[in-house]
Amino acid sequence: MERYETFEYDVLVVGAGGSGLRAAIAAMEQGARVGMVSKSLLGKAHTVMAEGGVAAALGNVRPEDNWKVHFRDTLKGGGMLNNWKMVQNYAQEAPERVLELERWGAVFDRTPDGRINQRNFGGHFFPRLAHVGDRTGLEMIRTLQDQAVKMGVNVHMETTITRLLQEGSAVNGAFGFDRRSGKFLAFKAKAIVIATGGLGRIYKITSNSWECTGDGFALASMVGADLIDMEFIQFHPTGMIWPTGVMGILVTEGVRGEGGVLKNNQGKRFMFDNVPDRYKGEFAETEEEADRWLEGDREARRPPELLTRDVVARAIRMEVNEGRGSPHGGAYLDIASRRSADYIKKKLPSMYHQFMKLANLDITKEPMEVGPTSHYMMGGIKVDPDSQATTVPGLFAAGEVAGGLHGANRLGGNSLSDLLVFGRRAGLAAAEFASKKSSWSSLDDSEIAQCLSEALAPFSRAQGENPFAIMQDLRNSMQKNAGIMRVEDELNEQLDIIRKLKVRAHNAAAAGGREYNPGWHTALDLPLMLEVAEAVVLAAAARKESRGGHARLDYPEPDPAFATVNHLVRRKQGVLAVETAPLPVMPGELKEIADAKGAVS
Ligand code: FUM
Repeated sequence: MERYETFEYDVLVVGAGGSGLRAAIAAMEQGARVGMVSKSLLGKAHTVMAEGGVAAALGNVRPEDNWKVHFRDTLKGGGMLNNWKMVQNYAQEAPERVLELERWGAVFDRTPDGRINQRNFGGHFFPRLAHVGDRTGLEMIRTLQDQAVKMGVNVHMETTITRLLQEGSAVNGAFGFDRRSGKFLAFKAKAIVIATGGLGRIYKITSNSWECTGDGFALASMVGADLIDMEFIQFHPTGMIWPTGVMGILVTEGVRGEGGVLKNNQGKRFMFDNVPDRYKGEFAETEEEADRWLEGDREARRPPELLTRDVVARAIRMEVNEGRGSPHGGAYLDIASRRSADYIKKKLPSMYHQFMKLANLDITKEPMEVGPTSHYMMGGIKVDPDSQATTVPGLFAAGEVAGGLHGANRLGGNSLSDLLVFGRRAGLAAAEFASKKSSWSSLDDSEIAQCLSEALAPFSRAQGENPFAIMQDLRNSMQKNAGIMRVEDELNEQLDIIRKLKVRAHNAAAAGGREYNPGWHTALDLPLMLEVAEAVVLAAAARKESRGGHARLDYPEPDPAFATVNHLVRRKQGVLAVETAPLPVMPGELKEIADAKGAVS
């Protein structure tokens, strides 16, 4: 048998973004020996793409803010499909997790009286996003990484996991390879936390970087974990659309939070015409009122640019479809005429440099051209709301790869506090699970042999296909058929395409050696990408309504019949299928908060 190296950990954390790091810290605090696998380099995680801030009801800018208002806003933004218990845990714990981060050395912008400053973001009733300019995710990763390294985490950088290993139904390890050397690695683990982030790379236009191929969803599904609400993909309204080489790169919602406005090619602020019924009466009706609100007038209402992302993304798409788009097929985002150059450079330094360097455009002088970009998966691996345990014993999940918190649409900034709250919970629960096992179970030789043979197969396909061509076909077809606006025929066509791509992926070839071989890496990413793409499309075809991030042209309205069900995607006898599950029933006192208007005390 091909050689491989074996490592033993109490808790293996797969993924080294914010949730993985926070889980590792929590597990180490419990005395667990923790190994962490990072597909990329430590510190280079998609967490840094949550630029504008971390949401937590600290109440520093508006003392009326509290966990109840955050709870209500999150449920409302999520189309009420969220797991209420997760939302409650989340909203109650987020402030302490942010303050803890500050104690560990994270730097935040300050209010005039020296407290952590908070900015406005879509769907948040009060300014709630603690931030440092537009580099909040980066600062969080830096802080968490320092903490985890100081505590002694063992990091396996540039390592891809291709399979989770099992003893009976429980996980007992993982198999993968070092991307630099091509050497195979087996990890024995008493418990595993999946924290691999999202799947944006299954779409052509995305804010996600190359690592976000949906590995964790697929790895978990392949060992029997349920996936929940996979139809809900967030298309962030503002990605760069020009030049084409940088299409999809995020333009932080912080631009709108700081007063930026969206206009069509006629100079009209079209968001005033796009306030959905559920938000009627809550947003400013004139530019003058919106400006008063930004200046701090508490009688005024929020500007409609601060509606939730699903609403804003679709409004931009409609402007383009109806011929009112910008020259490259998006909308204008204007902060130049609203704020001074000094203010923009201070509050949005990365945006200033990003547009200067990539588009030769000075955002302090000219508007940006922006359009929707696939940014975040609201669904994911189904977890217990308290422990983050999946439906597979020994397997936990946290961060973007876990579903339930965000329902049908996530509020900006909620992902950063999600990963702090639930990364910690997952790490604690995994360490506790591991502590009940006195030793590691042996890995099954035949399972390892199977992993090795699958991993080496691309090298034996001399006449096989270029894996990059298969990946490109997947990304283009997902963009066209399962993107921001969906319709039955195209979803069915996409299922057919995915089945054919699976056959082609079985024939994907790699040439050359195993050291740093991107063709080989892509050939091994493909089965996972296709598994997760199929889960997305199956769930999207089953939800015959429009809600949150899932918009159906053939079913344009929310349907009460779907208001009380989540979708589970399950693997049975090797085949993925969708089932419905009733939403957990919310206790009466929380329902009152969820239904409340305005501030809640
Ligand atoms: O727009 C942004 O800065 C992204 C934040 C987020 O996805 O939470």
